[in-house]
Formats: sequence, C-alpha cells, structure tokens
Amino acid sequence: MRVVAVIGGTGLNQFPNANAVETIELSTPYGTPSGQIQKMAHKDTTFYFLARHGQPHSLPPHQINYRANIHALHQLGVTDIFAVNAVGGITENAPTGQLCIPDQLIDYTWGREHTFSQQDNSNDLLSIQHIDFSQPFTESLRELLLDQGHHLNLPMTDGGTYAVTQGPRLETAAEITKYERDGCDIVGMTAMPEAALARELDIRYASICLSVNPAAGKSEVEITMDDIRAVINKGINQVTELLDATLEA
Ligand code: HPA
Repeated sequence: MRVVAVIGGTGLNQFPNANAVETIELSTPYGTPSGQIQKMAHKDTTFYFLARHGQPHSLPPHQINYRANIHALHQLGVTDIFAVNAVGGITENAPTGQLCIPDQLIDYTWGREHTFSQQDNSNDLLSIQHIDFSQPFTESLRELLLDQGHHLNLPMTDGGTYAVTQGPRLETAAEITKYERDGCDIVGMTAMPEAALARELDIRYASICLSVNPAAGKSEVEITMDDIRAVINKGINQVTELLDATLEA
C-alpha cells in the first residue's frame, strides 16, 4: 500500500487544500522532528504533512533534524515522500518562477547528521549500510509528478542537478560559477541529507523545486528576501496544484 507524505519547505508551511484529521507528535531515537505531523484528508485519500522548517517557520536548513523527520515518517509507514524545496536557478533550465523536478544532486553540505548507519557494539562493519544512491530521486515518483504537471499545463523542467549547500547564507558568485562547472542547474539548502536518509529507510523520494531567484552572480540585482517571498507567494500555487493532482493519481 502506498502511504504518502509531503515535506513542505519555505512557502509551504501548511497545506491549503486539505483538512488535518489528526495531529501526531512523535519522538524518535534521533530526537524530535521539526514539528507535529498532520494527517490530512484530501478528496478520496489521506497523506501526512510535515513542515520542514517547523510551524511557524523557525528552523534554518542546517539546524533541521533531518534524521528525526525521516524516522518519524518511517514510523508512520510512509512509503513515498514528495519534498518541496525553494531553490535558486543557476542555468537556463531553471528560470525564476518555474518548477523543476531534479534527477541528480551534488551534496556540498557539511557537519549535518546525515546517516542512520552508526557503529554499534559489535564493531561489525558489514552492518553499515552503503546504499546505492546513483539515482538520488525515485524515477517513478518523478514521472508521476511530470505526468500530472503535463496534464495541468504547468511549465516544468524535467531533470537537472541540485547543488545542496550548507547555508544559511546565499552563495558567492564564484561558488555558483564552480557549481555550474560541476554541472549543477539549481541550488538550495535542504535536499540533503533528506534524500539519502529516505533511501536508507527504503522510502521513495522526489523533490518539487520552485526556482525563486537567479543564483548569485546570475542577475545584475541584489537577491533580497522580499523578492524571493514575492516569487514564492506567486509560485506556490503551482506546487499545491501539482500536489493536489499527484495525491489523487
Ligand atoms: N541559494 C541557495 N538556496 C536557495 C537559493 C539560493 O540562491 N534560493 C532559494 N534557496
């Protein structure tokens, strides 16, 4: 059975088109998740919703307890995660305001608790899980999103490489030039270690990215939070429209 969760990022702290039928508070061996998890009734189905940055939005990307979040969803039997991420656009594949369903990532984060694999008392290295992460996003979920987006006539980019940075500061122009040379199309702060932790627990995972600004050095003007907020306010409707259709598919 498919059990779906949506992890909402900046701009999607609440899910507008569904009613919370249950509010669940969970603890995990890794600490507490970003907040309560809501069980949402949505037309003929239900799904779980977790606000990645807390409710209200208070956790910066490097202080999110990604392990607790993914473990809590696992405890609820979640099989499929749709993550929502605000990103900056590096290449022409990710113009401001457009959705992108990435198919690759490069992890530039550091110092985050990034795995459930820890040395246990047996010192048995074979128990350490080396997951296959060649394809970090689950292709079947990506295709589902792209199909639904296509039916809705939403302009969407199929694929792209997500540079995951530590934040919370934005990048320098030279860093963005380097990420572009590395093959990255978009830059954000939250896809890792989230995607890898989901894979460790065998949960399917795909990301809906909303490009909210040209990345550093990609436009003449300074990047301001006001401009980013304006793009999010406008673009988040496309994200919820896409999720609405995908949840029912
Ligand atoms: N860089 C990193 N993360 C982001 C950006 C950006 O330009 N925009 C939104 N999240």
